[in-house]
Amino acid sequence: MNDGSTIASFADIHPDRESVLGQALAGLGATPKTLPSKFFYDERGSKLFERICEVPEYYVTRVETALLGDIAGQAAEMIGADACIIEYGTGSSEKIALLLAALDRPAAFVGVDISSVALRGVAETLAGNFPDLAVHAVCADFTQPFTLPAMSGQGRRVVFFPGSSLGNFNPEQSVDFIANAARLIGPGGGMLFGIDLKKDAAILDAAYDDAAGVTAEFNLNLLRRLNRECGADFDLDAFSHRAFYNANAGRVEMHLVSRRAQSITLGAQTITFAEGETIHTENSYKYSVPEFQDLARRAGCEPMRAWTDANSLFSLHYLSVI
Ligand code: AVI
Repeated sequence: MNDGSTIASFADIHPDRESVLGQALAGLGATPKTLPSKFFYDERGSKLFERICEVPEYYVTRVETALLGDIAGQAAEMIGADACIIEYGTGSSEKIALLLAALDRPAAFVGVDISSVALRGVAETLAGNFPDLAVHAVCADFTQPFTLPAMSGQGRRVVFFPGSSLGNFNPEQSVDFIANAARLIGPGGGMLFGIDLKKDAAILDAAYDDAAGVTAEFNLNLLRRLNRECGADFDLDAFSHRAFYNANAGRVEMHLVSRRAQSITLGAQTITFAEGETIHTENSYKYSVPEFQDLARRAGCEPMRAWTDANSLFSLHYLSVI
């Protein structure tokens, strides 16, 4: 039992400035230019993402939360008592709280996120609201290997990865990611994934280019972060946000478009941009239910159950590790 809001453990293996700079230089030195989408989530970026979740066009969070509220009892029955839940991408407490509240005596929770401020906030909230739960936090880049803290609880280990964040990896990376998570929890473990469904391009285009410009701010924040953390000299007014659904590739793409020919300095390097040249900053893959189930099987997991909302916008999947 914890005493109000005490976290059982907080491990900080957050990427350092060198790692951000090195990966940014590698991406901007490539053709076409890219930047890793995981670098969106500094403190300001995490707050902007929370605001994205509230804009009317971005249905993802609202629809997933409602669906989870509807099916949490069914998922909890499949998971069983005394479970240890490992959440990847712990940015807010709402969804995990719905799952924890439906579970029979959950023993432990491990939140893993790249943003230490958001992670600590959620961990403290959960520790306060679930006094019998051992709450652990690991501030890490979960695309890299990390070790789980020692946990009590004899029940199933279950990975919870909501928000369609898996869609920010390409399909091959997604198979590797699911297989790595499966290795971490072992045979008999479970996984609950939130996956955005394929749908009309107009809905997706609007969701990633909201009228209030919050997603544009979020995208441009990547350059602001490189200026602040790595001493780059990007002029934010010289880049604009572009997002569109690429139906052939089954993904929404986000880019930053150079409004003019220009050069910027990052680390010891000068990087030149032609007018109209883009930095590809994010992919957000969308899957039909059978497409995601195929990925899961390729990763050595058995799809046990899939749920979708009434408008077929979003899906939740429960998998079992073989
Ligand atoms: C975190 N991730 C699942 C979001 C997505 O929908 O791909 C990130 C995002 N990018 C723009 N809007 C939201």
